[in-house]
Amino acid sequence: MAIQVNTIREQFPALSLADEGKPRIYLDNPGGTQVPRQVLNRMENYLIQTNANHAGVFRTSVESDKVLQEAHQGMAELLNARNADEIVFGANMTTLTFAVSRSIGRLLNRGDTILLTHMDHEGNVGPWMHLARDLGLKVKWLKFNLKTYEYDLNELAELLSEGNVRLAAINYASNCLGTVNDVKTITEMAHQSDTIVFVDAVQYVPHGPADVQNLGCDFLVCSPYKFFGPHQGVLWGKYELLQKLESYKVRPADNAPPGKYETGTQSHEGQAGTLGVIEYLEWLGESMGKEYQDNFKEFSGRRKNLHAAMQAIQEYEQILSERLISGLQMFPDVQIAGISNKKDFSRRVPTVSFTVKNKNPQKIAQKLADENIFVWHGHNYALEAIRLMGVEDSGGVIRIGPVHYNTIQEIDRTLEVLGTCL
Ligand SMILES: Cc1ncc(COP(=O)(O)O)c(C=O)c1O
Repeated sequence: MAIQVNTIREQFPALSLADEGKPRIYLDNPGGTQVPRQVLNRMENYLIQTNANHAGVFRTSVESDKVLQEAHQGMAELLNARNADEIVFGANMTTLTFAVSRSIGRLLNRGDTILLTHMDHEGNVGPWMHLARDLGLKVKWLKFNLKTYEYDLNELAELLSEGNVRLAAINYASNCLGTVNDVKTITEMAHQSDTIVFVDAVQYVPHGPADVQNLGCDFLVCSPYKFFGPHQGVLWGKYELLQKLESYKVRPADNAPPGKYETGTQSHEGQAGTLGVIEYLEWLGESMGKEYQDNFKEFSGRRKNLHAAMQAIQEYEQILSERLISGLQMFPDVQIAGISNKKDFSRRVPTVSFTVKNKNPQKIAQKLADENIFVWHGHNYALEAIRLMGVEDSGGVIRIGPVHYNTIQEIDRTLEVLGTCL
Protein backbone atom coordinates (compact mmCIF):
# COMPACT_ATOMS: atom_id res chain seq x y z
CA MET A 1 0.00 0.00 0.00
CA ALA A 2 1.41 3.33 -1.07
CA ILE A 3 -0.26 5.63 1.43
CA GLN A 4 1.68 6.13 4.65
CA VAL A 5 -1.14 7.42 6.74
CA ASN A 6 0.98 8.59 9.69
CA THR A 7 3.12 10.76 7.42
CA ILE A 8 -0.04 12.09 5.78
CA ARG A 9 -1.59 12.93 9.14
CA GLU A 10 1.47 14.94 10.19
CA GLN A 11 0.67 17.38 7.38
CA PHE A 12 -2.76 18.23 8.86
CA PRO A 13 -2.51 20.15 12.17
CA ALA A 14 -6.22 19.68 12.97
CA LEU A 15 -5.90 15.92 13.00
CA SER A 16 -3.88 15.84 16.19
CA LEU A 17 -6.39 17.81 18.26
CA ALA A 18 -8.20 16.27 21.20
CA ASP A 19 -10.92 17.58 23.50
CA GLU A 20 -11.24 16.50 27.13
CA GLY A 21 -8.74 13.76 26.38
CA LYS A 22 -10.75 12.40 23.44
CA PRO A 23 -9.02 12.61 20.05
CA ARG A 24 -11.13 14.09 17.30
CA ILE A 25 -12.24 11.58 14.70
CA TYR A 26 -13.23 13.46 11.56
CA LEU A 27 -15.68 11.38 9.56
CA ASP A 28 -17.72 14.41 8.51
CA ASN A 29 -15.53 14.82 5.41
CA PRO A 30 -18.29 14.75 2.76
CA GLY A 31 -19.41 18.02 4.39
CA GLY A 32 -15.89 19.48 4.33
CA THR A 33 -12.34 18.28 4.97
CA GLN A 34 -9.41 19.43 7.12
CA VAL A 35 -6.46 21.22 5.51
CA PRO A 36 -2.72 20.43 5.28
CA ARG A 37 0.07 22.89 6.17
CA GLN A 38 0.66 23.77 2.52
CA VAL A 39 -2.81 25.35 2.45
CA LEU A 40 -2.26 27.30 5.67
CA ASN A 41 1.17 28.50 4.47
CA ARG A 42 -0.14 29.62 1.11
CA MET A 43 -3.03 31.53 2.68
CA GLU A 44 -0.87 33.19 5.31
CA ASN A 45 1.78 34.11 2.76
CA TYR A 46 -0.80 35.53 0.40
CA LEU A 47 -2.32 37.74 3.08
CA ILE A 48 1.04 38.97 4.37
CA GLN A 49 3.09 39.27 1.17
CA THR A 50 0.80 39.83 -1.80
CA ASN A 51 -2.59 40.98 -0.58
CA ALA A 52 -4.01 43.27 -3.27
CA ASN A 53 -6.76 43.63 -5.83
CA HIS A 54 -6.50 42.42 -9.40
CA ALA A 55 -4.72 44.03 -12.36
CA GLY A 56 -2.69 46.84 -10.78
CA VAL A 57 0.81 47.80 -11.94
CA PHE A 58 2.32 47.79 -8.44
CA ARG A 59 4.24 44.98 -6.76
CA THR A 60 1.55 43.37 -4.58
CA SER A 61 -1.05 43.37 -7.33
CA VAL A 62 1.38 41.90 -9.87
CA GLU A 63 2.41 39.20 -7.40
CA SER A 64 -1.18 38.53 -6.42
CA ASP A 65 -2.19 38.01 -10.05
CA LYS A 66 0.65 35.51 -10.42
CA VAL A 67 -0.73 33.48 -7.50
CA LEU A 68 -4.24 33.52 -9.02
CA GLN A 69 -2.89 32.39 -12.37
CA GLU A 70 -0.94 29.58 -10.70
CA ALA A 71 -4.09 28.47 -8.85
CA HIS A 72 -6.00 28.26 -12.16
CA GLN A 73 -3.11 26.32 -13.68
CA GLY A 74 -2.95 23.93 -10.72
CA MET A 75 -6.67 23.17 -10.93
CA ALA A 76 -6.36 22.64 -14.70
CA GLU A 77 -3.71 20.00 -14.01
CA LEU A 78 -5.75 18.30 -11.27
CA LEU A 79 -8.76 17.98 -13.59
CA ASN A 80 -6.65 17.46 -16.72
CA ALA A 81 -8.16 20.50 -18.42
CA ARG A 82 -6.54 21.70 -21.63
CA ASN A 83 -5.61 25.04 -20.12
CA ALA A 84 -5.95 27.34 -17.14
CA ASP A 85 -8.51 29.58 -18.87
CA GLU A 86 -11.05 26.77 -18.62
CA ILE A 87 -10.99 27.05 -14.82
CA VAL A 88 -13.43 29.43 -13.12
CA PHE A 89 -13.18 30.09 -9.38
CA GLY A 90 -16.14 31.14 -7.27
CA ALA A 91 -17.59 31.07 -3.78
CA ASN A 92 -18.74 27.43 -3.93
CA MET A 93 -20.24 24.90 -6.33
CA THR A 94 -23.83 25.99 -5.70
CA THR A 95 -23.21 29.67 -6.42
CA LEU A 96 -21.22 28.85 -9.57
CA THR A 97 -23.96 26.51 -10.77
CA PHE A 98 -26.68 29.11 -10.20
CA ALA A 99 -24.61 31.64 -12.18
CA VAL A 100 -23.65 29.46 -15.13
CA SER A 101 -27.13 27.93 -15.33
CA ARG A 102 -28.42 31.41 -16.18
CA SER A 103 -25.85 31.67 -18.98
CA ILE A 104 -26.69 28.19 -20.29
CA GLY A 105 -30.36 29.18 -20.10
CA ARG A 106 -29.70 31.75 -22.80
CA LEU A 107 -29.23 28.83 -25.22
CA LEU A 108 -32.56 27.22 -24.29
CA ASN A 109 -36.13 27.87 -25.45
CA ARG A 110 -39.55 27.51 -23.84
CA GLY A 111 -40.67 23.88 -24.13
CA ASP A 112 -37.12 22.46 -24.19
CA THR A 113 -36.40 19.63 -21.79
CA ILE A 114 -33.68 19.25 -19.17
CA LEU A 115 -32.76 16.05 -17.37
CA LEU A 116 -32.11 15.93 -13.63
CA THR A 117 -31.52 12.94 -11.38
CA HIS A 118 -32.81 11.61 -8.08
CA MET A 119 -29.22 10.93 -7.05
CA ASP A 120 -27.96 14.50 -7.20
CA HIS A 121 -27.27 16.92 -4.37
CA GLU A 122 -29.51 20.00 -4.36
CA GLY A 123 -26.61 22.04 -5.73
CA ASN A 124 -27.14 20.30 -9.06
CA VAL A 125 -30.93 20.26 -8.82
CA GLY A 126 -32.16 23.56 -7.38
CA PRO A 127 -30.45 25.89 -9.90
CA TRP A 128 -31.91 23.91 -12.82
CA MET A 129 -35.39 23.78 -11.31
CA HIS A 130 -35.35 27.57 -10.99
CA LEU A 131 -34.19 27.84 -14.60
CA ALA A 132 -36.96 25.49 -15.74
CA ARG A 133 -39.55 27.58 -13.94
CA ASP A 134 -38.24 30.88 -15.30
CA LEU A 135 -37.93 29.70 -18.91
CA GLY A 136 -40.87 27.28 -19.11
CA LEU A 137 -38.66 24.18 -19.58
CA LYS A 138 -39.83 20.61 -19.05
CA VAL A 139 -37.95 18.53 -16.47
CA LYS A 140 -37.35 14.80 -16.79
CA TRP A 141 -35.99 12.74 -13.91
CA LEU A 142 -33.55 9.85 -13.98
CA LYS A 143 -34.06 7.53 -10.99
CA PHE A 144 -31.56 5.17 -9.44
CA ASN A 145 -32.29 1.52 -8.79
CA LEU A 146 -33.20 1.01 -5.13
CA LYS A 147 -31.44 -2.35 -5.04
CA THR A 148 -28.21 -1.53 -6.87
CA TYR A 149 -28.04 2.19 -5.97
CA GLU A 150 -26.97 2.91 -9.53
CA TYR A 151 -28.60 4.57 -12.54
CA ASP A 152 -30.24 2.29 -15.07
CA LEU A 153 -28.62 3.34 -18.35
CA ASN A 154 -31.49 1.78 -20.34
CA GLU A 155 -33.81 4.18 -18.59
CA LEU A 156 -31.44 7.01 -19.46
CA ALA A 157 -31.43 5.94 -23.11
CA GLU A 158 -35.22 5.96 -23.12
CA LEU A 159 -35.41 9.43 -21.58
CA LEU A 160 -32.91 10.75 -24.13
CA SER A 161 -34.68 9.08 -27.05
CA GLU A 162 -37.90 10.93 -26.28
CA GLY A 163 -36.03 13.90 -27.72
CA ASN A 164 -35.31 17.55 -27.08
CA VAL A 165 -33.23 17.02 -23.93
CA ARG A 166 -30.97 20.06 -24.14
CA LEU A 167 -29.09 19.58 -20.87
CA ALA A 168 -28.37 16.70 -18.47
CA ALA A 169 -27.23 17.58 -14.93
CA ILE A 170 -25.70 14.46 -13.40
CA ASN A 171 -23.38 13.61 -10.55
CA TYR A 172 -20.03 11.85 -10.64
CA ALA A 173 -20.25 10.49 -7.08
CA SER A 174 -23.29 10.67 -4.85
CA ASN A 175 -22.89 12.49 -1.53
CA CYS A 176 -25.49 10.16 -0.06
CA LEU A 177 -25.13 6.71 -1.68
CA GLY A 178 -21.43 6.93 -2.46
CA THR A 179 -22.07 5.55 -5.95
CA VAL A 180 -19.55 6.56 -8.63
CA ASN A 181 -21.35 6.95 -11.93
CA ASP A 182 -20.06 6.07 -15.38
CA VAL A 183 -19.91 9.68 -16.50
CA LYS A 184 -17.98 8.87 -19.67
CA THR A 185 -20.67 6.51 -20.99
CA ILE A 186 -23.48 8.81 -19.87
CA THR A 187 -21.79 11.69 -21.68
CA GLU A 188 -21.36 9.66 -24.87
CA MET A 189 -25.05 8.73 -24.76
CA ALA A 190 -26.14 12.32 -24.12
CA HIS A 191 -23.92 13.77 -26.81
CA GLN A 192 -25.59 11.55 -29.40
CA SER A 193 -28.68 13.67 -28.84
CA ASP A 194 -26.73 16.95 -28.64
CA THR A 195 -27.40 17.24 -24.93
CA ILE A 196 -25.06 19.44 -22.88
CA VAL A 197 -23.62 17.45 -19.95
CA PHE A 198 -23.08 19.26 -16.65
CA VAL A 199 -21.30 17.11 -14.04
CA ASP A 200 -21.27 17.65 -10.29
CA ALA A 201 -17.93 16.18 -9.22
CA VAL A 202 -17.90 17.66 -5.70
CA GLN A 203 -17.89 14.22 -4.07
CA TYR A 204 -15.67 12.53 -6.62
CA VAL A 205 -12.63 14.82 -6.78
CA PRO A 206 -11.52 14.11 -3.15
CA HIS A 207 -11.46 10.37 -3.88
CA GLY A 208 -9.98 9.67 -7.29
CA PRO A 209 -8.24 10.98 -10.42
CA ALA A 210 -10.53 13.22 -12.47
CA ASP A 211 -9.95 13.76 -16.19
CA VAL A 212 -12.35 16.08 -17.96
CA GLN A 213 -10.86 15.36 -21.39
CA ASN A 214 -11.38 11.64 -20.95
CA LEU A 215 -14.90 12.08 -19.60
CA GLY A 216 -15.80 14.29 -22.54
CA CYS A 217 -18.42 16.25 -20.57
CA ASP A 218 -19.11 19.95 -21.16
CA PHE A 219 -18.96 21.33 -17.62
CA LEU A 220 -17.73 19.93 -14.32
CA VAL A 221 -17.92 21.52 -10.90
CA CYS A 222 -16.11 20.76 -7.64
CA SER A 223 -15.35 22.39 -4.29
CA PRO A 224 -11.77 22.69 -2.94
CA TYR A 225 -13.03 22.63 0.66
CA LYS A 226 -14.13 19.02 0.06
CA PHE A 227 -10.63 18.10 -1.08
CA PHE A 228 -8.46 19.54 1.69
CA GLY A 229 -8.59 23.19 0.63
CA PRO A 230 -10.31 26.38 1.72
CA HIS A 231 -13.97 27.29 1.14
CA GLN A 232 -14.00 27.77 -2.61
CA GLY A 233 -15.81 26.46 -5.68
CA VAL A 234 -14.38 25.62 -9.11
CA LEU A 235 -16.15 25.30 -12.44
CA TRP A 236 -14.44 23.76 -15.43
CA GLY A 237 -16.00 24.29 -18.85
CA LYS A 238 -14.94 23.53 -22.41
CA TYR A 239 -13.27 26.72 -23.59
CA GLU A 240 -15.46 27.07 -26.70
CA LEU A 241 -18.59 26.90 -24.56
CA LEU A 242 -17.27 29.31 -21.93
CA GLN A 243 -16.38 31.68 -24.74
CA LYS A 244 -19.69 31.35 -26.54
CA LEU A 245 -22.02 31.72 -23.55
CA GLU A 246 -23.00 35.18 -22.45
CA SER A 247 -22.16 35.69 -18.78
CA TYR A 248 -23.81 37.96 -16.25
CA LYS A 249 -21.00 40.43 -15.69
CA VAL A 250 -20.30 44.11 -15.16
CA ARG A 251 -19.07 46.09 -18.17
CA PRO A 252 -15.43 46.67 -17.15
CA ALA A 253 -14.89 42.96 -16.32
CA ASP A 254 -13.01 40.71 -18.77
CA ASN A 255 -14.89 39.57 -21.83
CA ALA A 256 -12.93 36.32 -22.04
CA PRO A 257 -13.03 33.24 -19.81
CA PRO A 258 -12.42 32.78 -16.97
CA GLY A 259 -12.69 36.47 -15.97
CA LYS A 260 -16.12 36.94 -17.51
CA TYR A 261 -17.52 34.41 -15.00
CA GLU A 262 -15.48 35.47 -11.97
CA THR A 263 -17.73 38.30 -10.88
CA GLY A 264 -16.53 40.95 -8.44
CA THR A 265 -13.44 40.53 -6.32
CA GLN A 266 -12.62 36.88 -5.75
CA SER A 267 -11.37 35.22 -2.57
CA HIS A 268 -7.68 35.59 -3.46
CA GLU A 269 -6.57 33.89 -0.27
CA GLY A 270 -8.97 31.06 -1.13
CA GLN A 271 -7.34 30.62 -4.52
CA ALA A 272 -3.91 30.76 -2.87
CA GLY A 273 -5.06 28.05 -0.44
CA THR A 274 -6.30 25.95 -3.36
CA LEU A 275 -2.84 26.20 -4.85
CA GLY A 276 -1.61 24.89 -1.49
CA VAL A 277 -3.78 21.75 -1.95
CA ILE A 278 -2.27 21.23 -5.38
CA GLU A 279 1.19 21.43 -3.80
CA TYR A 280 0.15 18.99 -1.07
CA LEU A 281 -1.19 16.49 -3.62
CA GLU A 282 1.90 16.94 -5.76
CA TRP A 283 4.02 16.03 -2.73
CA LEU A 284 1.80 13.01 -2.08
CA GLY A 285 2.09 11.90 -5.71
CA GLU A 286 5.86 12.29 -5.67
CA SER A 287 6.45 10.60 -2.34
CA MET A 288 3.72 7.91 -2.27
CA GLY A 289 2.37 7.63 -5.80
CA LYS A 290 5.40 6.25 -7.65
CA GLU A 291 3.80 2.89 -8.45
CA TYR A 292 0.81 4.63 -10.09
CA GLN A 293 2.73 6.98 -12.34
CA ASP A 294 2.90 4.54 -15.24
CA ASN A 295 -0.89 4.60 -15.40
CA PHE A 296 -0.62 8.21 -16.55
CA LYS A 297 1.99 7.87 -19.28
CA GLU A 298 0.46 10.62 -21.37
CA PHE A 299 0.95 13.14 -18.54
CA SER A 300 4.16 14.68 -17.29
CA GLY A 301 5.41 16.76 -14.37
CA ARG A 302 2.93 17.89 -11.77
CA ARG A 303 -0.09 16.67 -13.78
CA LYS A 304 1.30 13.15 -13.57
CA ASN A 305 2.03 13.43 -9.84
CA LEU A 306 -1.44 14.76 -9.10
CA HIS A 307 -3.16 11.90 -10.90
CA ALA A 308 -0.85 9.32 -9.31
CA ALA A 309 -1.63 10.84 -5.90
CA MET A 310 -5.36 10.53 -6.47
CA GLN A 311 -5.01 6.91 -7.53
CA ALA A 312 -2.95 6.10 -4.42
CA ILE A 313 -5.71 7.74 -2.37
CA GLN A 314 -8.39 5.77 -4.20
CA GLU A 315 -6.69 2.48 -3.48
CA TYR A 316 -6.16 3.24 0.21
CA GLU A 317 -9.76 4.35 0.63
CA GLN A 318 -11.04 1.01 -0.64
CA ILE A 319 -9.47 -0.56 2.44
CA LEU A 320 -11.37 1.92 4.62
CA SER A 321 -14.63 1.21 2.73
CA GLU A 322 -14.16 -2.49 3.24
CA ARG A 323 -13.54 -2.21 6.98
CA LEU A 324 -16.42 0.22 7.49
CA ILE A 325 -18.98 -1.65 5.42
CA SER A 326 -18.09 -5.10 6.73
CA GLY A 327 -18.23 -3.68 10.27
CA LEU A 328 -21.67 -2.14 9.69
CA GLN A 329 -22.92 -5.40 8.20
CA MET A 330 -22.30 -7.09 11.56
CA PHE A 331 -25.19 -5.08 13.06
CA PRO A 332 -28.45 -6.82 12.11
CA ASP A 333 -30.58 -3.65 12.28
CA VAL A 334 -28.35 -1.62 9.98
CA GLN A 335 -29.44 -1.05 6.38
CA ILE A 336 -26.69 0.38 4.16
CA ALA A 337 -27.93 2.79 1.49
CA GLY A 338 -25.38 2.07 -1.19
CA ILE A 339 -23.18 -0.50 -2.91
CA SER A 340 -22.07 -2.95 -0.24
CA ASN A 341 -20.63 -5.89 -2.16
CA LYS A 342 -16.84 -5.79 -1.97
CA LYS A 343 -16.38 -6.75 -5.61
CA ASP A 344 -18.14 -3.51 -6.62
CA PHE A 345 -16.19 -1.15 -4.38
CA SER A 346 -14.41 0.40 -7.36
CA ARG A 347 -17.82 1.91 -8.18
CA ARG A 348 -18.16 3.69 -4.85
CA VAL A 349 -16.38 6.27 -2.74
CA PRO A 350 -16.01 5.51 0.99
CA THR A 351 -18.97 7.75 1.90
CA VAL A 352 -21.38 5.33 3.59
CA SER A 353 -24.96 6.23 4.54
CA PHE A 354 -27.17 3.91 6.54
CA THR A 355 -30.31 3.68 8.61
CA VAL A 356 -30.93 1.67 11.78
CA LYS A 357 -34.29 0.04 12.41
CA ASN A 358 -36.41 2.13 14.80
CA LYS A 359 -33.53 4.47 15.64
CA ASN A 360 -33.32 8.16 14.97
CA PRO A 361 -30.22 9.14 12.91
CA GLN A 362 -29.71 12.36 14.83
CA LYS A 363 -29.61 10.49 18.15
CA ILE A 364 -26.96 8.09 16.81
CA ALA A 365 -24.89 11.00 15.43
CA GLN A 366 -25.16 12.61 18.88
CA LYS A 367 -23.90 9.45 20.62
CA LEU A 368 -20.89 9.47 18.32
CA ALA A 369 -20.40 13.22 18.84
CA ASP A 370 -20.32 12.58 22.61
CA GLU A 371 -17.21 10.47 21.92
CA ASN A 372 -15.72 13.19 19.69
CA ILE A 373 -16.55 11.27 16.50
CA PHE A 374 -17.94 13.61 13.86
CA VAL A 375 -20.53 12.28 11.40
CA TRP A 376 -23.45 13.82 9.51
CA HIS A 377 -27.10 12.82 9.68
CA GLY A 378 -30.33 13.82 7.94
CA HIS A 379 -30.79 14.43 4.21
CA ASN A 380 -27.40 16.08 3.65
CA TYR A 381 -29.02 18.05 0.79
CA ALA A 382 -29.52 14.83 -1.19
CA LEU A 383 -33.26 15.47 -0.87
CA GLU A 384 -34.28 13.54 -3.96
CA ALA A 385 -32.35 10.42 -2.96
CA ILE A 386 -33.67 10.52 0.61
CA ARG A 387 -37.24 10.87 -0.68
CA LEU A 388 -36.87 8.10 -3.26
CA MET A 389 -35.62 5.79 -0.48
CA GLY A 390 -38.59 6.83 1.70
CA VAL A 391 -36.52 7.83 4.74
CA GLU A 392 -37.21 11.57 4.92
CA ASP A 393 -39.84 11.31 7.67
CA SER A 394 -37.70 9.03 9.81
CA GLY A 395 -34.85 11.56 9.90
CA GLY A 396 -32.83 10.56 6.82
CA VAL A 397 -29.59 8.64 7.20
CA ILE A 398 -26.39 8.56 9.25
CA ARG A 399 -23.42 9.27 6.99
CA ILE A 400 -19.85 8.20 7.77
CA GLY A 401 -17.39 9.69 5.31
CA PRO A 402 -13.70 8.75 5.58
CA VAL A 403 -10.97 10.23 3.39
CA HIS A 404 -7.33 9.28 2.91
CA TYR A 405 -6.20 10.78 6.23
CA ASN A 406 -8.49 8.54 8.24
CA THR A 407 -7.19 5.31 9.75
CA ILE A 408 -8.46 1.79 10.21
CA GLN A 409 -8.22 2.44 13.97
CA GLU A 410 -10.61 5.37 13.64
CA ILE A 411 -13.08 3.18 11.73
CA ASP A 412 -12.80 0.48 14.40
CA ARG A 413 -13.34 2.98 17.22
CA THR A 414 -16.42 4.33 15.44
CA LEU A 415 -17.83 0.83 15.01
CA GLU A 416 -17.10 0.14 18.68
CA VAL A 417 -19.09 3.20 19.80
CA LEU A 418 -21.89 2.35 17.35
CA GLY A 419 -22.02 -1.08 18.95
CA THR A 420 -22.94 0.51 22.26
CA CYS A 421 -25.92 2.40 20.88
CA LEU A 422 -27.48 0.18 18.19
C1 LIG B 1 -22.36 16.25 -4.39
C2 LIG B 1 -22.39 17.66 -3.93
N1 LIG B 1 -22.70 18.62 -4.79
C3 LIG B 1 -22.73 19.91 -4.45
C4 LIG B 1 -22.47 20.31 -3.16
C5 LIG B 1 -22.53 21.76 -2.84
O1 LIG B 1 -21.24 22.24 -2.76
P1 LIG B 1 -20.94 23.74 -2.31
O2 LIG B 1 -21.06 23.76 -0.81
O3 LIG B 1 -19.57 24.00 -2.79
O4 LIG B 1 -21.97 24.61 -2.94
C6 LIG B 1 -22.16 19.35 -2.19
C7 LIG B 1 -21.90 19.73 -0.81
O5 LIG B 1 -22.00 18.95 0.09
C8 LIG B 1 -22.12 17.99 -2.61
O6 LIG B 1 -21.82 17.03 -1.72
